Amino acid sequence: MKVAIIGGTGFVGSYLVDELLAGGHRPRLLVRAGSEHKVPARERCDLITGKVSQAEALAECVSGADALIYLVGILREFPARGITFEAIQYQGFVDSLAAARAAGIDRVVLMSANGVEQAAVAYQQTKRRAEQHLAESGVHWTVFRPSVIFGDPRGRMEFCTQLKAELVDPPLPATLFFPGINPLTAGDQPMSPVFVGDVARCFAACLDDPASFGQIYPLGGPRVLSWKEIVGTIARAGGRRGKLTMPAPAWGVKAVARVFEGFAWFPLTADQVTMLMQGNEADGSRAFTQFGIEPTRFGESALGYLARG
Ligand SMILES: NC(=O)c1ccc[n+]([C@@H]2O[C@H](COP(=O)([O-])OP(=O)(O)OC[C@H]3O[C@@H](n4cnc5c(N)ncnc54)[C@H](OP(=O)(O)O)[C@@H]3O)[C@@H](O)[C@H]2O)c1
Repeated sequence: MKVAIIGGTGFVGSYLVDELLAGGHRPRLLVRAGSEHKVPARERCDLITGKVSQAEALAECVSGADALIYLVGILREFPARGITFEAIQYQGFVDSLAAARAAGIDRVVLMSANGVEQAAVAYQQTKRRAEQHLAESGVHWTVFRPSVIFGDPRGRMEFCTQLKAELVDPPLPATLFFPGINPLTAGDQPMSPVFVGDVARCFAACLDDPASFGQIYPLGGPRVLSWKEIVGTIARAGGRRGKLTMPAPAWGVKAVARVFEGFAWFPLTADQVTMLMQGNEADGSRAFTQFGIEPTRFGESALGYLARG
């Protein structure tokens, strides 16, 4: 199958390309100028240079393809540069889907995220609206909603390498957020980290599986851990025996983030704190059973890449 991928140069995309190639598919990637080097085995892929906002580039990317996979997503906006959730996660998808339909493609898979149904912040709202637009489009569609995704980021950042760099490595106690006024609940938020290779396998496996048409799959790994347990696991995997932690009220962190989030150097946004406080627990068993995948467990042995970084 020829598979058009928008957002295939990222962390998940690199594993998806590997998985598609292993399955005998031919990936066709829309690649922003300067991101070509991020594509693994690019001699076995078709690369189309352009942006998701460029209609001609989108049309060329989907031309001759049998399926479309949309992976583009961001965690923070920079409106002055045109980088908004609306443009990247909603309009970019709407335009990609329109281009795919015009090219006769009737198989579309969308990367969403766990928790989007809460629609509490623009990240979730725009992904949820993209899901709804897809569901009404008349194509054979599938949506995946992963929890946090871990795995060797191959030179990029994923959530474990980022937590290690920002929370674990600095010589300060790691901050754990708590809702309300009870610091004893700091870091209690449940998460279901899911392995990137398992996510990629789900995307590739669903392509020609009619049982996945019209389905939304939550994707969480087999272990549910608290945020505090995750930070501890990352510290140990990175070679530290322990890491001191310090409780911080979520409302206070949000107030500071609102002031500084417009600066790229500030590590997180108020909306990210909101999503963190929601927790990120997801049951991936329906997808893993359907696609015959034995999911990788989150733990020190799966985080060997942190010791190298
Ligand atoms: N990672 C997670 O824990 C996680 C969890 C749940 C859902 N997701 C979703 O999974 C998808 C892939 O995540 P990821 O971790 O692979 O992200 P990533 O590594 O940041 O990759 C994002 C992709 O989107 C492209 N992109 C980023 N900003 C763009 C912009 N302004 N205009 C056009 N393209 C842009 C990137 O292109 P360049 O390479 O050119 O920058 C890259 O191909 C996203 O939709 C994300 O919301 C991720």
